[in-house]
Amino acid sequence: MHDANLGTLLRTCDAVGACLAAPSLRWVDEALARGDTLRKPTCVHRIGDPLRWLAAERAAGACILGVELADEAVRLADLPVARRRTVMVLGHEASGIPPEALDLLDGAVEIPMIGTGMSLNVAVAGSLVLYKLAGLL
Ligand SMILES: C[S@@+](CC[C@H](N)C(=O)[O-])C[C@H]1O[C@@H](n2cnc3c(N)ncnc32)[C@H](O)[C@@H]1O
Repeated sequence: MHDANLGTLLRTCDAVGACLAAPSLRWVDEALARGDTLRKPTCVHRIGDPLRWLAAERAAGACILGVELADEAVRLADLPVARRRTVMVLGHEASGIPPEALDLLDGAVEIPMIGTGMSLNVAVAGSLVLYKLAGLL
């Protein structure tokens, strides 16, 4: 919804040694080109059908971790460092992770909040979880 978030996430991915996977859509290309202020090659996977890609990653042994406020989610402080290939799934800024993708998750992590807002900015949430998964916090 706010394409500047893709550039922010791309920079965090670079900082922690992760790749960014994003659908092959024109607005995504444009947002990444605008937001990529690193001026060096970054690891971006362009994926056709996100659900099919997620299912294939899972079948190949990756852990699929949703980032979402959910009853069964672990709190960020309790999230262990990723010891195997892990795909972190972020939700849409208006509607969160769609139900079809929730079905493909192995688990979820939430970032506790005590303020008045209902949720964090998606790039902030993704960046916090990436740092924890990478063991750099
Ligand atoms: C702005 S939020 C989406 C809020 C949306 N209204 C909903 O119903 O889910 C965008 C995404 O950021 C992530 N996010 C934001 N705050 C979070 C939190 N406190 N814990 C975990 N994930 C969060 C989730 O991936 C969420 O789908």
